[in-house]
Amino acid sequence: VPLRAYNAFGIVARAQTLVRVASEADLAAILADPALAAAPKFVLGGGSNIVLTGDVRALVLKVEIMGRRVVEETERAWIVEAGAGENWHAFVAWTLAQGCPGLENLALIPGTVGASPVQNIGAYGVELQDRFEALDAIDLATGRAFTLNAAQCAFGYRDSVFKHVAAELSDFGLAGRALITRVRLRLPKAWKPVVGYLDLERKQAETGIAAPTARQIFDWICEIRRHKLPDPQVIGNAGSFFKNPTVTPEQCADIIGREPRVVHYPMADGSIKLAAGWLIDACGWKGKSVGNAGVYEKQALVLVNRGGAENPATGGEVMTLARAIQTSVYERFGIRLEPEPVVV
Ligand code: EPU
Repeated sequence: VPLRAYNAFGIVARAQTLVRVASEADLAAILADPALAAAPKFVLGGGSNIVLTGDVRALVLKVEIMGRRVVEETERAWIVEAGAGENWHAFVAWTLAQGCPGLENLALIPGTVGASPVQNIGAYGVELQDRFEALDAIDLATGRAFTLNAAQCAFGYRDSVFKHVAAELSDFGLAGRALITRVRLRLPKAWKPVVGYLDLERKQAETGIAAPTARQIFDWICEIRRHKLPDPQVIGNAGSFFKNPTVTPEQCADIIGREPRVVHYPMADGSIKLAAGWLIDACGWKGKSVGNAGVYEKQALVLVNRGGAENPATGGEVMTLARAIQTSVYERFGIRLEPEPVVV
């Protein structure tokens, strides 16, 4: 099965077997099939946050579980639920149309609802964990269904229990072991706009709107993202290719001593987050390429596939470019950048 249409980077690779999972019953049937049950499995959502470096030998489970509903309305909040196969952005737009604000800062993030907890998607001052209620999943080894709350998901910056193998994060890693079927979010009725992010403050200043509605923020976020980030339908990419690194105040002071303009943000825990895009940009990578893999002109943190459909970049080219960037950022700043997408 060709996977080019199933990964936002547009890399050419194949899967030996791909099975669509549209319901819990579909998955139960797969796990009951002796030929399929024992095979190693790879859960695929929208393919927006993966880099394929070769053919996939594992059985690919393409999650297509649909459905959206308001599960519960209390005095204080709405609990909304979506099937893992729903498109994330369409779900955000739907919640706003239902009159339930709270996800607007996460507009236009590519991918599916089921993938959103895996890397704890976040943008413009809001992370999924800030709105998370619970998720339902199925253990691929036993077929048993289970539910996790936020604490059990062990969310971190672009991180969760689904990115770790057991033993690494206590004994509760679930990487490769579970398929998320549904996600529930809690949207408090006491809604307040989250506008602390510089790009949003600029929109407020430009428009003179001091108290934007959720709809207004949704529109601003869409404009900001369309301006800065490449549309994967037009030019293949997996969003930010590296995580923003965290350093100690001492390390930061040392870097500022050498590079006074380094973009940095103090974190609540006393550490300091650096803008990886700035570090890469400062090393001169913007617009550069290795083969058909390139560094996006408007945002150095995003690697893109410049080859289009005719001559797409290979996973090898993308990883060669990524390693060259890591080396130059390390040599210049002493910082090791960590890839953000899942490298398959
Ligand atoms: N910058 C540069 N040069 C560049 C890129 C960025 O100087 O080439 C500077 C910018 O001027 C800005 C700073 O770096 O001062 C931060 O840039 P930006 O606001 O674009 O955000 P980011 O830190 O690069 C993160 C997330 C994005 C998210 C935005 C908005 C990560 C890895 N990335 O990017 O998430 O949309 O903030 O909240 O945390 C993703 O995860 O795929 C993603 C797109």
